[in-house]
Amino acid sequence: MDFAGRTAVVTGGGSGIGRGLALTWAAEGMNVVVADLRTEAAEAVADEVRAMGREAEAVACDVAAQPSVEELAARAYERFGSVELLCNNAGVGTYGAVLDATPADWDWILSVNLYGIVHGVGAFVPRMRAQGGPAHVLNTGSAATITAGNFGNGLYLASKAAVSALTERLRKELRPDGIGVSLLLASRVATAIHQTSAQNRPAELGPMPEHRPDPVSNDAPTLAALDPLEVGRIARDGVKANRAFIHTDRALRAGVLERNADIVEAFAFVEAASRE
Ligand SMILES: NC(=O)c1ccc[n+]([C@@H]2O[C@H](COP(=O)([O-])OP(=O)(O)OC[C@H]3O[C@@H](n4cnc5c(N)ncnc54)[C@H](O)[C@@H]3O)[C@@H](O)[C@H]2O)c1
Repeated sequence: MDFAGRTAVVTGGGSGIGRGLALTWAAEGMNVVVADLRTEAAEAVADEVRAMGREAEAVACDVAAQPSVEELAARAYERFGSVELLCNNAGVGTYGAVLDATPADWDWILSVNLYGIVHGVGAFVPRMRAQGGPAHVLNTGSAATITAGNFGNGLYLASKAAVSALTERLRKELRPDGIGVSLLLASRVATAIHQTSAQNRPAELGPMPEHRPDPVSNDAPTLAALDPLEVGRIARDGVKANRAFIHTDRALRAGVLERNADIVEAFAFVEAASRE
């Protein structure tokens, strides 16, 4: 797809990877709709896009709320007539052990990280199909779900594992429509996700649990974190090549191989068991 003159929508576009994506698409000559729960942050990034000579629209949007995402799609189509690239990127993180999480903690993480993408797909893909022509959906997942020792918070990992499965399936379902689908397996990106998540955390959940060193995993990547603008460029190249998976962190290759080797090796057990 030739991106110039077309339109990208980026959820969670107000900071971090979303900002990196928004500025990358603007540099490719696209109009950008910057959607975020934090309106001022979305406005600031939209201003950066305009300063690059592109058109931008900042939209206050809560991806956890289906009507809000439907309104985002309506605004984007009203302003630009078509959307060729949807980046379902908004996400939140939390701390703590799985057993310490309340049902409301689960609801929050899943409503943003998983349902946010469900709502984005539901609002935009039917419109993309109707407009015809090439289009692409980029979902932000997490490499922590596919590497050995899956470090991090269990609620977050569960939400992002669901994003992986949904995205892989969607890629197959949308192929006949000429709509590409990619999974951004983000890792090690220099963003302030835990601070923005603390800001976005619903007041009724109380303050964010305190961060403690991970007691069960010690294989979190230790290399310097990546600039979100660099991640935007990596994602751009992956989308252009219509890759199913887009990695951001070379250091995780060994961990992914180790995890997959563990899974494949487990067949030895079932083969031995079936001979008994
Ligand atoms: N930083 C990393 O290393 C890393 C690793 C793996 C995955 N990710 C994923 O990348 C994505 C972007 O995160 P980031 O690291 O850039 O952090 P970030 O906090 O800078 O960006 C997330 C953005 O999403 C917005 N947001 C949160 N809840 C929202 C909601 N309900 N509706 C609309 N917008 C909402 C926030 O306001 C924020 O602007 C997330 O999905 C995150 O899970 C990041």
